[in-house]
Amino acid sequence: MKNILVTGGAGYVGTMLVPMLLGRGYKVRVMDNLMYGGKGLLPCFASKDFEFVKGDVRKIEDVRSSLDGMDAVIHLAAIVGFPACKKDPQLAEETNHKATVLLEGLRHDRPLIFASTGSNYGALVGDVCREDSPLNPLTIYGSTKTAAEQYLLKCGNVVVYRYATAYGLSYRQRLDLLINDFVYQAVKNRNLIIYEKSFKRTFIHVRDIAASLLYALEHFNKMRDEVFNCGSNDQNFSKEEVALLIQKRVNYYLHFAEIGKDEDQRNYEVSYEKVNKAGFFTTVGIDEGIDELIRSMAVVQVVNEYSNV
Ligand SMILES: NC(=O)c1ccc[n+]([C@@H]2O[C@H](COP(=O)([O-])OP(=O)(O)OC[C@H]3O[C@@H](n4cnc5c(N)ncnc54)[C@H](O)[C@@H]3O)[C@@H](O)[C@H]2O)c1
Repeated sequence: MKNILVTGGAGYVGTMLVPMLLGRGYKVRVMDNLMYGGKGLLPCFASKDFEFVKGDVRKIEDVRSSLDGMDAVIHLAAIVGFPACKKDPQLAEETNHKATVLLEGLRHDRPLIFASTGSNYGALVGDVCREDSPLNPLTIYGSTKTAAEQYLLKCGNVVVYRYATAYGLSYRQRLDLLINDFVYQAVKNRNLIIYEKSFKRTFIHVRDIAASLLYALEHFNKMRDEVFNCGSNDQNFSKEEVALLIQKRVNYYLHFAEIGKDEDQRNYEVSYEKVNKAGFFTTVGIDEGIDELIRSMAVVQVVNEYSNV
């Protein structure tokens, strides 16, 4: 497998993955509609093995032509996170679910690696979520990603990862992710109010997500037709624990509120034994991730023209 199509490759995960693939000698074609721009891919154009195609995964002609000459597909394109999906549920259904069905119908015998999410488990049902735990998505994001991964698993020739919540730096940065957002508020606002402080979440650094996708590509036959939780048993933390880890490094006002509710009522612990047994381990720890985020805030500007502060 030499020629790899990455859908949604201009995003937070994709812009970390594509340079990694190029560095390993793959030829990479990214297909993306650039809904958040494409700046994060600029350094990739230095490589002759990189190709960019502007296209929409919902459109049959765009998908068909982007598959031409490709040996395998890493499918990242999606409307990501419950607030973005809630804003336009129809777009979320079309992009996350229907476009995956479309891609499935056109990819023929090309292996496919799918980035799914731990959101599929929804509220905690047992003690620790394993791959065979029931799926109970609580948001449109979770339900559209669940429908897509279940369809792909039925069709086969696929590896599905259910990822923990990502954090860390990327060429297409996101500040809406829990750890990234907490660091941003602590450093920039010097103030953070947290509700449901004991809710447990599970995390993975974005470079480790990229590494896991590369790993699946290179161990496809061993992992084929299986779903893997992807993260680390060492990175299940409550919101309070994350906030206190940041407070060890940044002096800010931290308040735990009694009132307030996250719509994505995720409060769960996840086991990563299966992916470890398949030979994949994360390498970036939460301390390293928080440190790099804090350092990066030096270039993040907060501009509010109506405020004196
Ligand atoms: N970041 C996380 O915490 C996380 C966790 C679990 C799973 N995932 C999954 O990983 C994948 C990548 O997530 P991300 O964090 O990079 O998100 P992102 O929003 O940064 O990237 C998504 C990319 O998809 C593209 N896209 C959206 N609609 C498209 C369309 N119709 N046609 C073509 N391209 C389109 C966007 O332009 C964007 O570049 C997603 O499938 C997501 O569900 C992410």
